[in-house]
Amino acid sequence: MKKVITDLRTFQYFYPYTVAVVGAQVKDRANFMSCAWHTALSFDPPLFGILVAKKRRTYDFISEAKEFTVNFLVQEDLALSAQMGRVSGHDRDKVKEFQVELSPAVHIRTPVLDTAYAAFECRLRDIYSCGDHELFVGEVLAVQVREECFDRQGVLDPRQVKPLLYLGSDFYITVDPDTLEHKLP
Ligand SMILES: Cc1cc2nc3c(=O)[nH]c(=O)nc-3n(C[C@H](O)[C@H](O)[C@H](O)COP(=O)(O)O)c2cc1C
Repeated sequence: MKKVITDLRTFQYFYPYTVAVVGAQVKDRANFMSCAWHTALSFDPPLFGILVAKKRRTYDFISEAKEFTVNFLVQEDLALSAQMGRVSGHDRDKVKEFQVELSPAVHIRTPVLDTAYAAFECRLRDIYSCGDHELFVGEVLAVQVREECFDRQGVLDPRQVKPLLYLGSDFYITVDPDTLEHKLP
């Protein structure tokens, strides 16, 4: 018999999710935040969605820049996830303070994170209201990947990279490459 929960203030039974750091650049300042609530939305055109609460500084940055990058972190970047996800750009310049290493995007002004194993360059296409979060829909213009982390079909190789996964409440984990299987019906 399963326990039935109707108080959903702790709304994290669906984790683990990969941790992405998302953000945008406005004038000379970039701001990023950790984002676990993200999803692919369409192949053609390639659309990717991120959910950002209105009170986040990142919400203002993406709304103004009309573009954003989505940066997937490795387990070694756990501290970076905590810094980007527990400090607000309303109060501090996180990029400077935590010496976040950035490199240029190819199609937009917003930089990508150097240590990300994959980074999406997105042009903002739509914003939808979803309760206390807003769904930013981005058209993916380019994906920058660390080549050794993916096979020829774009499947992540868990022997080469340990993606950072979020379990909620500041707990993190990664994948075990020994459990990898390829199976068809
Ligand atoms: C691992 C992790 C995942 C998070 N996921 C989200 C998310 O999907 N959406 C969101 O609005 N906030 C999320 N947060 C909270 C923001 O990252 C956090 O409030 C951050 O400080 C906002 O920074 P900003 O004000 O500079 O935008 C997450 C925090 C952590 C630690």
